[in-house]
Amino acid sequence: MTAPKPQRVERQQTDKGYVPVYTTAAVEQPWSSYSSADHATWAALFERQRDVLKDRACREFIENQQRFGMTPDAIPRFDELNEVLAKATGWTLIGVEGLLPELTFFEHLANRHFPVTWWIRKPEQIDYIAEPDLFHDLFGHVPLLLNPMFADYMAAYGRGGVKAHGIGAEALVDLTRLYWYTVEFGLIKQDDGLRIYGSGIVSSKGESIHCLESPAPNRVGFDLKRIMQTRYRIDTYQKTYFVIDSFEQLMEATRPDFRPIYAELAEQPSIAAGEVLASDRVFHRGTSEGWAKDGDV
Ligand SMILES: [Fe+2]
Repeated sequence: MTAPKPQRVERQQTDKGYVPVYTTAAVEQPWSSYSSADHATWAALFERQRDVLKDRACREFIENQQRFGMTPDAIPRFDELNEVLAKATGWTLIGVEGLLPELTFFEHLANRHFPVTWWIRKPEQIDYIAEPDLFHDLFGHVPLLLNPMFADYMAAYGRGGVKAHGIGAEALVDLTRLYWYTVEFGLIKQDDGLRIYGSGIVSSKGESIHCLESPAPNRVGFDLKRIMQTRYRIDTYQKTYFVIDSFEQLMEATRPDFRPIYAELAEQPSIAAGEVLASDRVFHRGTSEGWAKDGDV
């Protein structure tokens, strides 16, 4: 097996700060090169989040993770997951070194390819790592790709990204906010209460608890244009979480052409991360306890 050769080209802002972006496209998952420490890191993170997410993650996340046969025993093999995924929703996981350039990432999504970082964090990084690693990408993002509606949403998002890339920087900012507040930090209303579906949350012990139980953040209903105007936090937990009623609602929201929406929003100011609007459907108005005054992006 050839060892992947990372090529770092720039750095990109993420929820954990600036991290490298790589040009290397798909690489084969070097599964046999994982050490026992790598498998132990997977096991420790998996077991911890399994406990935290019980009664916090949405049922589709839990059920699909089980359907994949993911266990703490060993880092999953992408080719085995792909057998399940291809039959269910036509998606394929591809191994990557880390973050990809924006357009490359959108093109992969549009083609139902989900890039997964092949390497896992070191034992001393269990609680904090700047770059998305295998645990975030695989544990966090992959289970919901088995859900047909969410799988369609991700592909629609990729197509939207390719289009926005051709429109300009402002359109990309609007679209990035949508990804942030849904795919990474989304909540869903289910019969038994608010539940998590965002990958940035499910892969973080602290935010899994904070987003549902802390009085500090706002929890308000999903609204496409409102989200596209809303700035967010990359250095702290989110000040506002947006709640969808169903994955159908998410998919439906992407049906219109976004071009007129981008034009309309370009005329309007952005909304601060912690602001609550009179038009919001408020599930919980945050107390703003512990919020940093500025620093929204
Ligand atoms: Fe992510």
